[in-house]
Amino acid sequence: MTSFTRRDLLRSGLALSVSTLAAGSVGRTRALLAAYPDAVSAEAMSAVAPREHLLFDFGWKFFQGHASDPLRDLGFGMGQGDFAKSGELWFSTQKFDDSKWRTLNLPHDWAVELPFVNDEEQNSHGYKPLGRRYPESSIGWYRRTFDIPKEDERRRITVEFDGAFRSALVFLNGYFIGRNDNGYAPFHFDVTDFLNYGGKNYLMVRMDASFGDGWFYEGAGIYRHVWLTKTDALHLGHWDSMVRTRLSGNAALGLGTIVRNEGTQFESCRVRWQIFDAAGKIVASADAKPQQVEVGGSTEFEVSANLPSPALWSPETPNLYTAVVSVESGGKVRDAERISFGIRDIKWDADKGFFLNGKSVKIKGTCNHHDHAGVGAALPDRLQWYRLGVLKDMGGNAVRTSHNMPTPEWVEACDRMGMMMMCETRLMSANPEGMAQLEAMVKRYRNSPSIILWSMGNEEWTMMFQPQGPRVVSDMMARTHELDPTRLCTAAVNTAFGEHFPEVLDVMGFNYNLKEHDAYHAKHPKQPSVGSETASTVSTRGIYSTDKLRNWVSAYDANHPEWAELAEEWWKFYAAREWLSGGFAWTGFDYRGEPTPYGWPSINSQFGIVDMCGFPKDNFYYYKAWWGAEPVLHLFPHWNWEGREGEPISVWVHSNLDSVELFLNGKSQGSRKVEPLTHLEWSVKYEPGVIEARGTKNGKVVLTEKRETTGEPASIKLTADRTEIHADGEDVAVLRIEVLDKEGRAIPTAANLISFKVTGEGALIGVGNGDPNCQESDKEPKRSLFNGLAQVIVQATRAPGTIMVEAYTAPNSQPRLPAVQVKITTRKVELRPTVG
Ligand code: GAL
Repeated sequence: MTSFTRRDLLRSGLALSVSTLAAGSVGRTRALLAAYPDAVSAEAMSAVAPREHLLFDFGWKFFQGHASDPLRDLGFGMGQGDFAKSGELWFSTQKFDDSKWRTLNLPHDWAVELPFVNDEEQNSHGYKPLGRRYPESSIGWYRRTFDIPKEDERRRITVEFDGAFRSALVFLNGYFIGRNDNGYAPFHFDVTDFLNYGGKNYLMVRMDASFGDGWFYEGAGIYRHVWLTKTDALHLGHWDSMVRTRLSGNAALGLGTIVRNEGTQFESCRVRWQIFDAAGKIVASADAKPQQVEVGGSTEFEVSANLPSPALWSPETPNLYTAVVSVESGGKVRDAERISFGIRDIKWDADKGFFLNGKSVKIKGTCNHHDHAGVGAALPDRLQWYRLGVLKDMGGNAVRTSHNMPTPEWVEACDRMGMMMMCETRLMSANPEGMAQLEAMVKRYRNSPSIILWSMGNEEWTMMFQPQGPRVVSDMMARTHELDPTRLCTAAVNTAFGEHFPEVLDVMGFNYNLKEHDAYHAKHPKQPSVGSETASTVSTRGIYSTDKLRNWVSAYDANHPEWAELAEEWWKFYAAREWLSGGFAWTGFDYRGEPTPYGWPSINSQFGIVDMCGFPKDNFYYYKAWWGAEPVLHLFPHWNWEGREGEPISVWVHSNLDSVELFLNGKSQGSRKVEPLTHLEWSVKYEPGVIEARGTKNGKVVLTEKRETTGEPASIKLTADRTEIHADGEDVAVLRIEVLDKEGRAIPTAANLISFKVTGEGALIGVGNGDPNCQESDKEPKRSLFNGLAQVIVQATRAPGTIMVEAYTAPNSQPRLPAVQVKITTRKVELRPTVG
């Protein structure tokens, strides 16, 4: 079996057996306008004087090059010494005029700006014209001019990319600096020797998205942050500082770092650690034994400290501490950095599952790719928090970063909001590239308390059957344990359960295949297990009847491809087995690409429990009922079935109460007892009016929910998740658009085309509606509602003031509805230090 077989089937749509329930309707969706904590990113605050860590996102120039015609690619590739010989790379010198190039800020994804193409080869990538057959849209050039002061001359200066898609070539002041092939791992270059001190500098980055790393939408361009870091020549190594915690009443902290000396004389160094609690109080400190660091050398420093009665980290109590590490020599602090960490104890048990801080915790997780409606892969940091808020609201306590290492802000949001994480590398390989990606991931994130498990990769079909598989994964695990002895490793296994590959994993990761679990566990009773990937249930938000002509899948929990499972199936199976630590459903959010079970014109997946915007599908409430802590009563479908009078409608309820009684226009349709982990179902003959569910707990009605037959569109409703955001050029407000009837009821089937005008201190950066088949632009200021909802994302400038967002009926669209406005205040905040 090869990985192609299933993908090929996927493309042709043959692998699916989508079952359909007889009737359906459009269900309620609900605003998920959770309040997101205020946060200044730990990454941005990691530098402590004299170190500087400057955000390098603003004021770039951009140009679309060409992958096969050098004349349309700045002549690049025509020279004799493009990488080897200096003086020819004129485009990264002052000679080059970029004034006609487009000005933009990072993060940026040019793929999301491209039109869709009806090309089945691009199916899994979201039908964007990227790749070797699209040379005119697969290359992007980014250029940035910046000053470096004369005083920096004796410092070490590094340019750092958190991740960029793909095959980056970096040039500075006419010199080739370096390359990075993969699209997800961070990379950096020391540019000290190449800078022009006391003058202008010209940084140029050529990105080439001709090749992919995965089988999903990946974006194109510099879609994560870029930083410029300035340190003393005597400095702490890159991601070398770490805090390892061991808990036994008190917390024992193992503190380590590496000091590097790139100066001209040996240094006698002292390394100091200060530990701060969340209130900023010093709670521990320690000095490592002074040591010398030779010229061009590096020295490890280690020390331990004790933290009495620590505030533990957990999803419910995401307590964090900060360690400030500084190196002193010659009576001066020469370099320092701040790292955030948490104290918690984790244990994987082969019989009893996963334990956090001594308590058994079932992993209620989702896998997620990294793109969002409107913005593609280039998410402003705040959107990471938004997305995590949706998953937390569902009762989720864990995420898997499938199938690549995440952006630092996703990990930081998990640390700070309280979400456990299985962190996965893209390339399962022990080759130099695979090992480099793995090392970057482990070193970058090993201080994050949210990470409970490292994943060596996903479904390497060929490798798992061959002797190379166990060898490769063992080497990867050995290196991971060397860098981080505190966590175990897994890999996502979908086949070859009888081979050696799964046996060598610390924690067995099951992808699907419920039928294999028990037998495997019986044969490997000492190996802990987790559901690395489950579900792949498919549904279209607000659709209640599968329609193969319109590429819709009903949103009842009823459909999945042949390899996959319903929400209710997999969760019942996992909940019933103590030895299974829980699992990660494929997926939390819909994502571009993999439009299973369909192809064109579907451009995004339907696997999500919520859609591309984060609007919940009905299964969201199944999970919320059985994962969350609150009472839940969710009734669907909607009650707008004109023309279907007298026909049976399947009415479902997801609830964790004791029993639910259903009423149609006040008439009882019967009461049903809730069976744990199971939905309730009625068949009701349609008549317009009100369908209502009354949920009972301990004999009392505690929750009621109703769906009403709504009237004609009468007004637009615009709601911002936050009406006050930061005036920092980065923060966003996420707006929800609905259409109401004259009674003020949201119309669940509304499809009105709405235009937007954004004025004042902000700009529209993307729109969406969660429709997997919608090919309207993500960037234009208009969007049709899909089953009653659309989303607009608005980003603040750096000037405090107000943003006015207006929503009005798009020109030539009927019916005409009165325009509405929302005002968003942008508040002055301390700006992250940036490159000027
Ligand atoms: C899995 C794979 C995912 C996604 C999913 C769709 O096998 O790991 O990346 O393709 O199938 O069901």
